[in-house]
Amino acid sequence: MTQLSFMGRIFMLAMLTLIPTVGMWAQQEKWTTIKNGIEWTDTEGYVVQAHGGNFLQVGKRWYLIGEDRARSWNPDVNLYSTEDFVTWKFEGKIIQNRVTHEQLGVSRMIERPKLMYNAQTRKFVVWCHWEARNYSASEAAVFESDSVAGPYKCVWTGRPLGTKSRDCNVFVDNDGKAYFISTTDENTNLGLFELSDDYREPVSKTVLCEGQRREAPAIVHIGDTYYMISSACTGWAPNQAKIATSHNIKTGWSELENIGDNIAFDTQASSILTIKGTEGTVYVYVGDRWMDPDLPQSKIIMLPITFEDGKMQLRYYDSWQIDFNRGVFRLKDEK
Ligand code: GAL
Repeated sequence: MTQLSFMGRIFMLAMLTLIPTVGMWAQQEKWTTIKNGIEWTDTEGYVVQAHGGNFLQVGKRWYLIGEDRARSWNPDVNLYSTEDFVTWKFEGKIIQNRVTHEQLGVSRMIERPKLMYNAQTRKFVVWCHWEARNYSASEAAVFESDSVAGPYKCVWTGRPLGTKSRDCNVFVDNDGKAYFISTTDENTNLGLFELSDDYREPVSKTVLCEGQRREAPAIVHIGDTYYMISSACTGWAPNQAKIATSHNIKTGWSELENIGDNIAFDTQASSILTIKGTEGTVYVYVGDRWMDPDLPQSKIIMLPITFEDGKMQLRYYDSWQIDFNRGVFRLKDEK
């Protein structure tokens, strides 16, 4: 075996020092500042109108679906996309009054549209609250499309498994099983409706928070625990958010406990994001700051979720920073 020459050893040493450095370059920090309380604008300069919605991640892109409240009542459903939650591209009105469905904008309106992707059918599926002006219909609706930006077609409208259903959300578990969760029985209970494999219809119902009059439910699954944040039913006015946890989505939910301040920092939950990166995962509470000061100017608020002594915590920050690639966040002045 030949001995390494002096130059050879120098070369080896240089390589050994370089390899970790190259690794570190790949992990370079890239902080994005999230500012709360301001109006979001899209790349055309228009105000982002996507309230009561949710987010769907497709590769590095996040799609935001929500109510267009520019004209207050009878919202159309808008879709935007972003990679950093700061630059928003308007993808179009994916469900439109009178166009997508003859009753929409006439005898029915949509609230809280929620978007999912079904890997089996390769369809994008929207569930939402499908309502009459006086909230007497208490129905839901389902729309479906081959591509995220539409066109969406109505698949079904009605009361899920015959249940009066209002404020709603969806939750897709790690195994792809999806649920529609809504405020049922004249705002008395929450109904957790397990959906069929194609996400088109409910197959079973479980009553959660019985008699506790909760709405705006948002569920996230972290480790072996499900967390559900919800509000009381006080219309557009904010109230104390509460949290419940369970190891099983259908049973064993804890009592409700307060989270955040007594008006949820002037928000009502719309969704909880799971942002995975190379170093960690950031969970983000997203809420609507309704009537700020009127419906069209309602804001979308994003707050990083923290855990203290194993408990989920929600605190308010005017601004904070996230590194999407690494999946970490920091409060703005932290070094
Ligand atoms: C809220 C509900 C909203 C909307 C509003 C109408 O309680 O969360 O989605 O229905 O009432 O007053």
